[in-house]
Amino acid sequence: MPRSVMVTGGAGFIGANFVYHWVGAHPADQITVIDALTYAGNRDNLAPVADHLSLTFVHGDICDSALVSRVIAERTVDTIVHFAAESHVDRSIVDPGLFLQTNIIGTQVLLAAARAAWRVEGGYRDGVRFHHVSTDEVYGSLAIDAPPAVETTRYEPNSPYAASKAAADHLVRAFHRTYGLPVTTSNCSNNYGPCQFPEKLIPLLLINALEGKSLPIYGDGMNIRDWLYVGDHCRAIEAVLERGRPGEVYNVGGDAPMTNLEVVRTLSRLIDEAFSAEPALAARFPSSPAARGGTTLSLLKFVTDRPGHDRRYDIDGSKIAAELGFRPAEGFESGLRQTVEWYLANEEWWRAVLDGSYREWVSQHYGDGGPAGQARPL
Ligand code: NAD
Ligand code: DAU
Repeated sequence: MPRSVMVTGGAGFIGANFVYHWVGAHPADQITVIDALTYAGNRDNLAPVADHLSLTFVHGDICDSALVSRVIAERTVDTIVHFAAESHVDRSIVDPGLFLQTNIIGTQVLLAAARAAWRVEGGYRDGVRFHHVSTDEVYGSLAIDAPPAVETTRYEPNSPYAASKAAADHLVRAFHRTYGLPVTTSNCSNNYGPCQFPEKLIPLLLINALEGKSLPIYGDGMNIRDWLYVGDHCRAIEAVLERGRPGEVYNVGGDAPMTNLEVVRTLSRLIDEAFSAEPALAARFPSSPAARGGTTLSLLKFVTDRPGHDRRYDIDGSKIAAELGFRPAEGFESGLRQTVEWYLANEEWWRAVLDGSYREWVSQHYGDGGPAGQARPL
């Protein structure tokens, strides 16, 4: 039975990768992306699937209750995959208010709209599901010798971003316990891959390296993150939607915990190797040390630490492996190599994002995006 899937935040990094995956794996399904196109949202992220006839884009805010309810009704949505969020920790330290609005209120608006639309006498329509995409940051910083976080690890969010995601997780749980809404939640580790906005560590380092700018590493560089290739994350969400039990939480990790210094060293080596293998790169990126036979790692610069910087995240993915048969398939080095190749092949994408001409560029390519709230094909 084909589904009608609403993807919130589908013009962002993980949401767009999820749409690619879903369109390929479930071509009969109808997909509706709802996205406010904040600085992190990019219509061009959906260009690879723009010809997919059953894909509709709605330019709108998840906090707009009337809009969300209308879209669920008009598109007879039976599955919501909720990615839309303010997602960058550093920005949450500068301006927490927006994070509370989007991540908490936005989630509550979606839950209430789903509940109202899906209720029938004695319960909910068959086959409906609200899937909430959350983060390992809700568990806070693990001690160096502590076991990786499991689904029952105590919540200890330390940044305004993590606190807002924790609040959203609790609301999702509450809508299940109080109203019986069929929900699932996944808490996953650091993603990387195509289309990631270049404020996050890996694309920021990669683009800085190509431009010969310093590679800023906070503090001593010994903070640990578990890196997950975005395609694996999309497969994990698919497994939860297809086989996950309503009311359950599933942790998703990449089996690749490492320090930020290890990340910058591996990435620098892969960039150096790419320049050695492809002499034309030196002409395209003459400011990169690799273009002059130097090493990318020479750009490394330790900078002031992030306030409240969590020392270590690590995820125990044994529940999703045992119950749903999901394991990450991509190794860190091969996933990172693909990521380097994607950014090298999509220089126009990241230049447009970086130079601020993105919105002008989008209007040339797609028109003005339409009035807010108007559903239209891509
Ligand atoms: P992103 O910042 O790249 O994209 C967020 C998207 O949400 C953008 O397209 C933006 O326009 C949209 N959006 C923001 N506010 C909105 C609003 N009010 N209404 C509608 N759309 C809005 O984020 P991402 O990295 O793709 O993360 C997606 C989700 O996954 C988030 O919920 C995040 O917390 C979670 N997550 C991310 C990671 C990671 O490593 N990136 C890891 C674990 C969990
Ligand atoms: O763990 C999952 C989370 O991963 C997601 O929930 C967030 O949405 C996502 O942004 C990410 O959060 P992090 O704070 O871990 O990611 P970020 O890329 O900002 O930083 C990764 C690590 O690198 C972290 O220890 C901080 C450090 N860092 C980051 C930047 C941007 C640097 O050392 N230098 C930098 O310039």
